[in-house]
Amino acid sequence: MPKPAPVRKAVLPVAGMGTRFLPATKAVPKEMLPVVDKPVVQYAVEEAKEAGIEQFIFVTGRGKHVIEDHFDHAYELERLLSSREKTEQLNSLLEGLPASGSVSFTRQQRPLGLGHAVWCARHFVGNEPFAVLLPDDLLVGKPGALKQMMQVYDKVGGVIVAAEEKPLAEVERYGVIDPGVIKGNVIEVKGVVEKPKAAKAPSRLCVIGRYILQPEIFTELDKQDKGAGGEIQLTDSMAKTIGRMPFHAVTTTCARYDCGDKVGFLQANIAVGLSRPDIAPALKAILKSVKF
Ligand code: G1P
Repeated sequence: MPKPAPVRKAVLPVAGMGTRFLPATKAVPKEMLPVVDKPVVQYAVEEAKEAGIEQFIFVTGRGKHVIEDHFDHAYELERLLSSREKTEQLNSLLEGLPASGSVSFTRQQRPLGLGHAVWCARHFVGNEPFAVLLPDDLLVGKPGALKQMMQVYDKVGGVIVAAEEKPLAEVERYGVIDPGVIKGNVIEVKGVVEKPKAAKAPSRLCVIGRYILQPEIFTELDKQDKGAGGEIQLTDSMAKTIGRMPFHAVTTTCARYDCGDKVGFLQANIAVGLSRPDIAPALKAILKSVKF
């Protein structure tokens, strides 16, 4: 097989209202809630950068402008830190910045679902493959999840999703895969259904928030009817491309934390904190001393 076209662009849907985190998310987008000391969305951008992504397309909504500010220079702050020789803090600001001109923002004007959010990015993506990262899903590991998916993509091309096996009671929260041939951590996808009832789920293998998609998806999204939850589902449009191009799921070595969920978010903070040499000793001591 010839080497597939490179994936240079990533779409990050960040229009969700974050109602599960009220009142914290009344004035602050949920994607800006910090895991230790970085907003959730920054982890996704760093993961994408590591995987070779050059263009970041955010699909935002009302009240999300601080995400734009976050990925821009903060001159006063940078000057202040520089004049006080706070090099470490200054570097932490500069390291997180994507290159000038590599970030675009478009708005999903109405909350019609993930498929619609991705469709809103169609003119920015154009006619080339692209990645989608759902920042709520924090994937921690080395190499990052998208890079692991890219390694598979370079061999098989087509559509790739990240997947994880879930308990049967939880499958109705996810896109669920009908698996075909399994080779190591790469699973052929014969079908995929959004949020099925446990009894109707084709497996327990669930899509988690990382995708490599082909531009043909936009032709399907153009005419996609509402699906589960009355929303335009990305899963439904992906399912329609099966048979026309390769479609695989990859189980990565990364740990996944659902930062859209309160317990998942706390778990992410503890896990990332424990992985950080500057924080782990004190955090471990506190966790040991907690009385239940
Ligand atoms: C979305 C997708 C779903 C996927 C999930 C992963 O659902 O529609 O297929 O399994 O993300 O987090 P949501 O969590 O937005 O309901």
